[in-house]
Amino acid sequence: MHCKPNIAIDGPAGAGKSTVAKLVAKNLGYLYIDTGAMYRAVTLKALRDGVDLNDHEKLGRLASAVLIRLKVGSNGNLTVLLDGEDVTEEIRLPAVSNSVSLVAKVPVVRRKMLELQKDMARLGGVVMEGRDIGKAVLPDAQVKIYLTAATGERARRRWKELSDKGIRVDQRQIEEEICNRDFIDTSREMDPLAPAADAVIIDSTSYTIEGVVDLIVARVTGERQKL
Ligand code: CDP
Repeated sequence: MHCKPNIAIDGPAGAGKSTVAKLVAKNLGYLYIDTGAMYRAVTLKALRDGVDLNDHEKLGRLASAVLIRLKVGSNGNLTVLLDGEDVTEEIRLPAVSNSVSLVAKVPVVRRKMLELQKDMARLGGVVMEGRDIGKAVLPDAQVKIYLTAATGERARRRWKELSDKGIRVDQRQIEEEICNRDFIDTSREMDPLAPAADAVIIDSTSYTIEGVVDLIVARVTGERQKL
């Protein structure tokens, strides 16, 4: 029996999942887990090693061999370690964003990540965000959220995020990358991106971050009172 319930947040790129999930976790005193960072770390390793992204067998071996650790700091920020090396910044670079969906669609890679993620949540009390959390990783999560927003708005948010870090990119190119990723993520065979039947769908296009966070926290608190 879990001491604390788990919360699943899914949705497409740039919908604000990371920002929202981090704040919800902080608010509730839960652990924040970014599963996309894990797929990004595997992708970075594959790119560094020059692995052909169509070679599923090699990608599977690589996913099994790498050691991925997510460390949450006292400020709630996440450090991503790939075989002990801090790759937090590098996994956000456009080269990784452009390839990650090709790696994430490989069933043997997904099975490995699924196993790790289920294990991370086994004690409860996590806010986990990704693409398949509500349906595959945490099908019995107490609260499931599917967070989305209009494509143009998602591209604008992602562009701002990268610009703030000094990474210069064209907003149209970002929109293209996001659409391309959405397509691969929603059409792949294993655990495609889609809201779970029991997910609350939130379109955040015209919501503030605080508005979305409040909605989710209220939902969790409401569920707790039912127990
Ligand atoms: O932050 P952003 O929305 O750009 O994406 P992310 O959460 O970092 O995830 C990067 C990619 O990893 C996604 O586009 C998916 O291809 C894959 N992913 C997945 O397949 N399953 C998850 N649970 C999380 C991410």
